[in-house]
Amino acid sequence: MLIEVPQLLNCEQIADCRAAIGKAAWIDGRGTAGDQSGAAKNNLQAREDDPHARRAGDLILGALGTNPLFIAAALPLHVFPPLFSRYADAQSFGDHIDNAVRQIPDTRHRIRTDLSATVFLTPPEDYDGGELVIADTYGSHSVKLPAGHMILYPATSLHQIRPVTRGARVSSFFWIQSMVRDDAQRTLLYNLDFAIQRLRRDHPDHASAIETMSVYHNLVRMWAEV
Ligand code: NI
Repeated sequence: MLIEVPQLLNCEQIADCRAAIGKAAWIDGRGTAGDQSGAAKNNLQAREDDPHARRAGDLILGALGTNPLFIAAALPLHVFPPLFSRYADAQSFGDHIDNAVRQIPDTRHRIRTDLSATVFLTPPEDYDGGELVIADTYGSHSVKLPAGHMILYPATSLHQIRPVTRGARVSSFFWIQSMVRDDAQRTLLYNLDFAIQRLRRDHPDHASAIETMSVYHNLVRMWAEV
């Protein structure tokens, strides 16, 4: 399931993020790619250990922690520290699959990448191309969102970044290990959660509210790894 999280960052947070990564050291993005994806990749990335990039990453992690849509959709267990990429001058990233397991830098901790996330940091009118194209069972989806918006998609999906033919595209990308690793199960829980929220809003005293909520929690208990 593809889920758009609108306005993960407000204007001030976008500006703070951009200012911080503007001071970061940028290097060839092939450093964090696997063998296949490295051959397809052509971009710049902020150094993972750069303190300015880390500050921008922490700002995004803070916004994720208080975003109910993200939490309902991802059921996050671990979030990889956000990385930052920049594409300009016809740079692109051809079709690839993200690595299944990633080591969190400077720790012994590894996460399984259940979901991939991109937070757009450049307004779409400031560049041409640069669409994130994600293939799933229902065909391919082209995604180019306003600055501050995020797209979440199953990390099992083949995806690419189209060449940026004007301007520059700056974004943050990272992965999430979910408490519920299976995308179909996570999707069911998300849909059920959404229905429960609506039921509680429209009919707060209806007995179904508590019944459906207990089904939700018992499914989470059945499927979650924590
Ligand atoms: Ni990727």
